[in-house]
Amino acid sequence: MSKKEKSEKFENGAFKVSREPFYLPQGNEIAIFEAAHKNQFPELRNGPTGSGKTRLVEYMAWRLNIPLYTVACHDDLSANDLTGRYIIKGDEVKWIDGPLLMAVQEGGLAYLDEVVEARKDVTVVIHPLTDHRRCLPVEKRGKVFQAPENFMLVISYNPNYQSVLKELKPSTRQRFVSINLGWPKEDLEVRIVSREAGVDETTAEKLVKAANRIRNLVHQGLEEGVSTRELVYAGTLLRNGLSVRDSLQSTMIEPLTYDSDLKKSIEEVLKNYFNF
Ligand SMILES: Nc1ncnc2c1ncn2[C@@H]1O[C@H](COP(=O)(O)OP(=O)(O)O)[C@@H](O)[C@H]1O
Ligand SMILES: [Mg+2]
Repeated sequence: MSKKEKSEKFENGAFKVSREPFYLPQGNEIAIFEAAHKNQFPELRNGPTGSGKTRLVEYMAWRLNIPLYTVACHDDLSANDLTGRYIIKGDEVKWIDGPLLMAVQEGGLAYLDEVVEARKDVTVVIHPLTDHRRCLPVEKRGKVFQAPENFMLVISYNPNYQSVLKELKPSTRQRFVSINLGWPKEDLEVRIVSREAGVDETTAEKLVKAANRIRNLVHQGLEEGVSTRELVYAGTLLRNGLSVRDSLQSTMIEPLTYDSDLKKSIEEVLKNYFNF
């Protein structure tokens, strides 16, 4: 399902998730998310790349029927990008709200994806939103904005690949209700891959079984195991009629490593399940 089909963009940059996204829970994460929202607690989701962090947030925005403001954090993203800034337009100075300020003013789910990537001042600016104050101070406006009841802050990060320098500080982590999920269990992941890629369960099962063996190669120096997302890509390419070699090479080998020995090991694993 494309983003266009399931969401419509609001004027203000938020998404209304108007169709139910497919989300298969790994455990109690939906109930925990709902309880956090009800009690106005912020939530932290960590887990490896492509393991369903964003999908869960989209699903919850739909389920709670609130707009979704997603910010993909990167190392240049500063607090001002979240709160807003003055811009000069002709001889006019105009204030532009940032996505976090929009969510605080209008209510909704503010999702800061890969938050540790952002500059340090981002952590500072979100602190008052994560406790009983639930407010966003915007220094440049000289104002403190109070978050409404249906505002919820959700952050995600991937603790595996980030460097120690980019760990979230315990003082920040301990402000959130946290869900820590890894790869889905085999039978769940088979259902996800089969449904998302549109392949039969036998093919999905081979992809997932191979993936779980590839994930074990992290002990041999593989940085991160193959993601559910890549398995969905692999299945989709196979369904599109691409050769097995091309489908697997481009989704389950190439994206994982530059190391030729590791590539060979991954290929060996895949050959136990597929002929190519
Ligand atoms: N629990 C799940 N239910 C449904 N789809 C999932 C689930 N986990 C992963 N996926 C699939 O994997 C893809 C990547 O998930 P995503 O949420 O974008 O990962 P990330 O953790 O990087 O945010 C999704 O587009 C979806 O196809
Ligand atoms: Mg994501």
